[in-house]
Amino acid sequence: MLEKAQRLLQPSARSAVPPFMVMDVMAAAARLEAQGRRIIHMEVGQPAVGAPATAIAAAHAALGSGPLGYTETLGIASLRRRIAKAYGEWHALDIDPARVVVTTGSSGGFVLAFLAAFEAGDRVAVALPGYPPYRHILTALGCQPICVETTAETRWSITCDALLALHRAQPLKGVIVASPANPTGTMMPAAGLADLIRCAEDAGIVVISDEIYHGLDYAFVAESAARLTDDAIIVNSFSKYFCMTGWRIGWMVLPPSLVRVVDRLQGNLAISVPTLSQIAAEAAFDAHAELTQVKHGYEENRRILVDGLPRAGLDAFLPVDGAFYLYADVSRPTVSPSRRACWRKRVLRQRRALILIRCTARTFCACATPAAARKCTKRCSASAPG
Ligand SMILES: Cc1ncc(COP(=O)(O)O)c(C=O)c1O
Repeated sequence: MLEKAQRLLQPSARSAVPPFMVMDVMAAAARLEAQGRRIIHMEVGQPAVGAPATAIAAAHAALGSGPLGYTETLGIASLRRRIAKAYGEWHALDIDPARVVVTTGSSGGFVLAFLAAFEAGDRVAVALPGYPPYRHILTALGCQPICVETTAETRWSITCDALLALHRAQPLKGVIVASPANPTGTMMPAAGLADLIRCAEDAGIVVISDEIYHGLDYAFVAESAARLTDDAIIVNSFSKYFCMTGWRIGWMVLPPSLVRVVDRLQGNLAISVPTLSQIAAEAAFDAHAELTQVKHGYEENRRILVDGLPRAGLDAFLPVDGAFYLYADVSRPTVSPSRRACWRKRVLRQRRALILIRCTARTFCACATPAAARKCTKRCSASAPG
C-alpha cells in the first residue's frame, strides 16, 4: 500500500526547493515550547508587538457586522485607494489606485509577480546575501535565480556593472532589489537605486522592488522604485512597519499593463485576500503615532547593538540603515580553536545556546543563562583595567 502511494505520489522535480530555514527553526522552537521549554524567539524577522489598536478595533467591528464574504480579487476598493494615498504621503507620488493589488503578504505578491512577468526558464538576478525565498519561489516556478555576490563596499546591493556583466554572459529577464534589505539591513541611496533601474530597463530587464521594510528606515528615507519608473513591479506588505505578519496581507503597485494579468492569476489562485485582514489593514493607516513608537523601539535596539557588538569583539558590520537586521562578520577567530571546541561540547551537552561575554581582548566567559552572563559582566568590569 505504502509502496503504491510512494510510486504514485512522486513529488514533482520543481517542488524540490530547500525549506525556508527560518520556518524550520520556528517549528523546532515550537516543539521545545510544547515540552515546556522557554524560548526567546530571535529566529524570524517579525515585530514583537501585534497589529495596531486601530486595526484590531476595525477587525472586532467587522466580525460582528455580517458575513465576511469574498472581496474583489484585486482588493477592497477603499483599501486600494488608501494604499495609493499613502504613496502621496510617503513619497509625494500620485499613484492610480487601479494599479494597486492587495495580496496575501508580499510572499503572495512574489508568486503573482513572477508568474505575470516571467516565463519558465527565464533568468532573474537576486543579490547574495539576500532573502532566500526569492530564489526558492523562482525555482519552484521554473525560473532560474541567478545569484549576484555582493560586497560591503556596495552596501550589499547589486550594481549596474555586475548586472550588465551577467546580462552579457546570458540574457537576464528580471532583477529583484530590496532596500532596506534582509539580512543586511542596508539601503540603496536614491541615486544608486535610480542608476540600477535605469540600466536594467535600458537592457530590457524587469525590476521587482521589494519595499517591505519601507517605513523602517533610520539612516535616510528609503526611495521607492515607484518614484523612478512606472514599469517596475513594487511589492510591499503590512507585515513589518504595520506589525501585521500573521494577518498575511500585502500589496503590489503594478505597471498598468500587468493589472488585468494579476487579476486573472490571483482570481484563479486565491479568489481574494482574507477579508478581515483587508479591513484591519485599511484601519492600520490611522495608527501612525503607535507605529512611530514601535519604530523608536527598533532604533533603540539598533543603538544597543551598534554600540555593544564592537565591545563583544564583533566590529565588522555596516551600521544598519533600515529594517531590523544587522549583518556582522563573525568569521574572524576571536578565541582559540580549543576554547571553541570546548564551548561547542557544552552547547551540545546542554542543548542550549551559550552567551559569550568578552572580558578582555583575549578572554571570554561562556554563560548558559542570562543571570550567569550578568554576573560575568560584573566580574569582567570589576577586573578590567581602568
Ligand atoms: C525581504 C523580505 N521580503 C519579503 C518577506 C515576506 O514577508 P510577508 O510575506 O510577511 O509580507 C520577508 C519576510 O521576512 C522579507 O524579509
